[in-house]
Amino acid sequence: MEKTRIIIDCDPGIDDAIALLAAFVSPELDILAITTVCGNQPVETTSRNALKICELGARADIPVHAGSHRPLMRAPIRGQFHGETGLGSCVLPEPAKKIEPQRAVEFLIDRLLRAGNERQPITICALGPLTNIAMALRIEPEIARGIERIVMMGGAYREPGNRSMTSEFNVLSDPHAAHIVFSSEVPIVALPLDATHQVILTPAHVKQFEAVSGRISQAVSQLMASWDRNQVERYGSRGGPLHDPLVIGWLIAPHLFETRRVRVFIEYQSELCMGQTIADWFDKSGLNPNTAIVTKVDAAAVIEVFLDRFSRYQDTVMQ
Ligand code: RIB
Ligand code: CA
Repeated sequence: MEKTRIIIDCDPGIDDAIALLAAFVSPELDILAITTVCGNQPVETTSRNALKICELGARADIPVHAGSHRPLMRAPIRGQFHGETGLGSCVLPEPAKKIEPQRAVEFLIDRLLRAGNERQPITICALGPLTNIAMALRIEPEIARGIERIVMMGGAYREPGNRSMTSEFNVLSDPHAAHIVFSSEVPIVALPLDATHQVILTPAHVKQFEAVSGRISQAVSQLMASWDRNQVERYGSRGGPLHDPLVIGWLIAPHLFETRRVRVFIEYQSELCMGQTIADWFDKSGLNPNTAIVTKVDAAAVIEVFLDRFSRYQDTVMQ
């Protein structure tokens, strides 16, 4: 099987951590690197959390490059629900693994230029604000040739926002970066709240993941239990939406997702609607559709896929 070469740009973050742990045991994926960004937590914290999760998942082989300290223009906003450390109640040892000396944006430029020259484009999995990716595109637009597609968690089209009335956290955190990425002509697959709110990780699911996850079951249980919003009126049950993991889910089981191709625009000027993602559903703009928005998910089947992946931690050993 030809593996999909990916770089995961993230801001761990509880759901980022769950997404990383799923990716680590998915043989379809060749994880070339992890880049971190200011988002849920300051970049020092998201970077340290990424190192900790690599060690938890016995993947200290994956290089981690630290990225932007701030959004392009706006002041940082912090993720809610991730707790003080960004990993909820999950306490992991200080990592022995070190951050790579090369910063994330320089790494993205070098590695994506090489991918383009070698005609081996890479899929970018964007689990946080798009700051690093936007900066790399601005500094060296040629990197677009080395990007197969960007599969990103973010946006809210027919769903209300989760951080403001109109906007989802990742896009609201850095709407200018999102505008740059969505105007770049690079193919995008978007997992918005419209999709992630269809897959709620309930307390019953947490028990199932705890039962199958072998040596990491305690950490998984702590991460997932911390993700419970306890907002039944919003989500229809206890639990939390499986935001970032659905990026990995789409890559390993795309048949469980329905998409619709549209042109997407980002509001980055109006304070009231800052970070709103606007879909051109009926081609009013005349611009070519560059985004496949995930509109429907087979939630039960996706949970089963993740349970299968986490059960593979029964076979891995700590490094
Ligand atoms: O809106 C959901 C996104 O913001 C996810 O990436 C999650 O990590 C949160 O920070
Ligand atoms: Ca995230």
